[in-house]
Amino acid sequence: MRFDVLTIFPEFFEAPLRTSIIGRAMQAGKVECRTHNIRDWTAGDKHHCTDDAPYGGGGGMVMLAEPLLRAIRAVRGEAAEASGAPRPPVIYLSPQGEILSQRIVCELAELPAVILLCGTYEGIDERVVDLEVDREISIGDYVLTSGEPAALVLINAVARRIEGVLGNPASAPNDSFEEGLLDFPHYTRPETVEGMAVPPVLLSGHHANIVRWRREQALERTARRRPDLLARVTLTRADRRFLAERGFPAPGPGPAPSPGEPPC
Ligand SMILES: C[S@@+](CC[C@H](N)C(=O)[O-])C[C@H]1O[C@@H](n2cnc3c(N)ncnc32)[C@H](O)[C@@H]1O
Repeated sequence: MRFDVLTIFPEFFEAPLRTSIIGRAMQAGKVECRTHNIRDWTAGDKHHCTDDAPYGGGGGMVMLAEPLLRAIRAVRGEAAEASGAPRPPVIYLSPQGEILSQRIVCELAELPAVILLCGTYEGIDERVVDLEVDREISIGDYVLTSGEPAALVLINAVARRIEGVLGNPASAPNDSFEEGLLDFPHYTRPETVEGMAVPPVLLSGHHANIVRWRREQALERTARRRPDLLARVTLTRADRRFLAERGFPAPGPGPAPSPGEPPC
């Protein structure tokens, strides 16, 4: 999968994209990530200016439409040719966008290419959104100084869904949100840490009991921490019995997934 990032801070991406799982995926060619400096599209401006004061007054600066439009169109053409996607979508990272979720992550991971647009200052001239942005995505209900950290979050979450990126793909299906539940707790050596022992079932070698214990832990954690998630999960009779025994109210059937919703 190819990510093209439009930014005025290309250096922001250097270390994160060279490091750990994403760095290895980049080296192995599973993921390609190109950063493009928006200043390269400031045409004749010798100061390579990318922002100006807002019409209507008020504080802060607004990113200029014209360099952004030139950058988006040039990069979209390049990405389309390289990836075979006729029109790779432009995603503007914005606190006003739909909130990034595992469902959106899975959806994006199916695409051959996406273009990520990082704003800064007060944001970008709205005409860029109207003319060239396909989707606005937020990483949460808070405001960052710029879109670069959000773009990195999105790249990281999407890249780990791409085949061959995770060293051990067996670990992913239990991750939080994959099956709708939070993950169960994990332990490794030594068996006792500051007087706290590993739950005995994990040392029992009894596979079926371990599977059941993990499921119950995931159910209990989700019921305690994110009851909103539990309402959307398909529960077995044993799950419901377990939750009732623990005193959690039986979750309703929850809203059915919308028809186009891809399974994770
Ligand atoms: C200071 S913010 C602009 C906030 C904007 N004036 C507003 O209140 O909606 C500058 C840039 O940071 C990025 N940004 C800030 N918060 C974000 C979030 N929660 N998710 C994604 N991007 C965010 C966007 O690219 C935005 O253009």
